[in-house]
Parts: sequence; C-alpha cells; structure tokens
Amino acid sequence: MRALVVDHTSPGHLSLTDVPAPRPAAHEALVRVEAVSLNFGEVHEATRPERPDGTVLGWDAAGVVVQAAADGSGPAEGERVVTLGEAGWAELRAVPAALLGTAPKDADPGALSTIPVAGLTALHVLRRMGSLLGRRVMITGASGGVGRYAVQLAARAGAHVVAISRSAAQADRLRALGAHEVHPEPAAVQQPVSAVLDNVGGQHLVDAFASLSAGGSLFSVGRSSEADAVLAPDALLGDGGRHDRSIRTFFLFGDPTTDFSADLTWLAGEIAAGRLDPGISWRGPWTRHSEAVKVLLDRRLHGKAVLDLK
Ligand SMILES: NC(=O)c1ccc[n+]([C@@H]2O[C@H](COP(=O)([O-])OP(=O)(O)OC[C@H]3O[C@@H](n4cnc5c(N)ncnc54)[C@H](OP(=O)(O)O)[C@@H]3O)[C@@H](O)[C@H]2O)c1
Repeated sequence: MRALVVDHTSPGHLSLTDVPAPRPAAHEALVRVEAVSLNFGEVHEATRPERPDGTVLGWDAAGVVVQAAADGSGPAEGERVVTLGEAGWAELRAVPAALLGTAPKDADPGALSTIPVAGLTALHVLRRMGSLLGRRVMITGASGGVGRYAVQLAARAGAHVVAISRSAAQADRLRALGAHEVHPEPAAVQQPVSAVLDNVGGQHLVDAFASLSAGGSLFSVGRSSEADAVLAPDALLGDGGRHDRSIRTFFLFGDPTTDFSADLTWLAGEIAAGRLDPGISWRGPWTRHSEAVKVLLDRRLHGKAVLDLK
C-alpha cells in the first residue's frame, strides 16, 4: 500500500511511497482511508531528525471499514468511520473500537477527517470547564483547528464566547461560527472571563490568566506562539477578586484507556448534518502534500488542511 512517510531529503520531510500493509490485531478493524487531516504537531514532528525515514505518521483519518475486528468489537464492514491513532497517513489503517466513530454513509470523508485531534480536544477541554451556560469563555488561537471547533462547541453550550485571533480577516468568520466578541489579543479584553482554552501560550497565556475572574481556570492546550510564558510575581496574587484561579494542563492522549468512540460518532453526526463547520481551509489530493505542509508550517493556515487519497 502507499503511505506518506518521513523523508528528510524532501522539503516537507514527507514523501509518498510503498510500505507493508498493517496486520490488524483481533480487536482492530481494518479501514481503507479516504482522507486525512494534518495537525501542526505531527507535521512538525516529521521535521525532527530523530524521526527515522520511512516512519508513517498521522493521527486523523476517515474512511470505510474493509474488515471488521475479528473479536466482533466495533463497526461492520462497509461502515464509514472517523479514526484516531498512529500511522493514519496510509491507504490502510488498523484501529481499535475505542479510537473509531461511525458516520453517515454520505458524509464527506474530508470533513470527517478534521474531527479527531481538533474536535476531540475542543470537546474534552470544554467539558472540563463544567457548565458553560451564561459564562464568558475565552478561546485563543480561535482561527485554528482546535479553536474553530472550540468556538462552535462553546457557543452551542451557551457560553458567551470571547475569541482571540491576530487576524482581522478572521473576525467575521469567527462571529459566524458563534463568537460574541473577537479581539486581536487577550490584553484587549475588558471584562473578566470564567475560563480560557489557550492554544497559543507565551504572552497570550499570561494575559489570558490575568483576565480570569475568581475561581476561573485556564486550560493550556498548545503553545502555537512557541514563546515562553513568564508570569510576573504579582500575576499570582489572589487579591482584588482574583483568588482561586488555576492553570491546568491538557493532553488528549493523557489517559490511554479513554474510549473516544461515542464522541467521535457524535461529532461525525454533527458535521454530516451541517451543524458543525469542519473549518477546511486547504484541500487537495495527497500527491500535493508538500504544498499543504508548507502552508501549515509557515503558519498561513486558518483552519484545517485536508488531503484526499486519490
Ligand atoms: N494538548 C493537546 O492534547 C493538544 C491537542 C491538539 C492540539 N494541541 C496544540 O494546540 C495548538 C493549537 O492546535 P491547532 O491544531 O488548532 O493549531 P493551528 O491550526 O495551527 O492553530 C493555531 C492558531 O494559533 C494562532 N497562532 C499561531 N501562531 C501564533 C503566534 N505566534 N501568536 C499568537 N497566535 C498564534 C493562529 O491564530 P490567529 O492567526 O488567528 O491568531 C492559529 O490559527 C498547537 O500548539 C497544537 O500543537 C495540543
């Protein structure tokens, strides 16, 4: 089968080549992949010299089950599915039931492929915030893959969504997705917020933390800015209504026993019904992978890059 593998001689550190097909374990379904989406993390991972040539990367993929799991778990042959895991940038992927959601037959695999890392991260972080009804929630890096899902899901949950994007051109789009306010940086936000989903880190994290009301939490998801977050000593004072604030870490794969299947299936249904926007901002056949990788690494992408396997 063909797969997109690490190749340090190529400009994007990836190339299409033939590799052995996966041999599914008894608890794994074999999926014919139709589309994959790229995340900054894994594309950046391919550039690291420690990653040997020939490694198949890729967390997000959507396709059709061509062989159900031998132990009877998971979906039947012919079901359209969205999948999470390792080695997804390949024509075939072996996936356990916990990392696979089912989707309507007519759902667009490209749209489905945007769900796993970005959609699940947004959903799981927002759930950790508790009830969002009537609360002000800030989302930094709101125009990105995680951010767009977070804006939509927070608005659906009844939050007053405060979106942060450096790009003025993204403001209308973010409002259409459900943002009530759009600001270029957290320091521009006047009213306190109850919770923050921070995709950016650095000064964004510092200023977003300062905007939390008493009892509020900031969830540190990513550091797209690649900058250090330096908290001045008085940033940690708890006076003047700033008591009991916290910074919490998050890692989607933190608990390897998590069963994501119900959430993947729900998100797939929402995408298929048009109630969630997958935020695709670059799409093409996987033979054009180097273009997608360049846009992503140059930070020119606002949303998801999708590769169709045709
Ligand atoms: N912890 C986890 O389990 C987990 C899961 C998923 C993702 N992540 C991490 O979370 C982050 C977001 O992921 P993603 O897939 O949404 O990434 P993405 O699609 O690249 O979006 C990141 C957004 O951050 C903003 N941004 C980028 N560079 C910035 C800078 N220097 N200063 C301020 N804002 C900047 C951009 O928005 P604007 O240009 O509109 O400001 C961009 O759209 C990444 O760091 C990723 O590695 C972590």
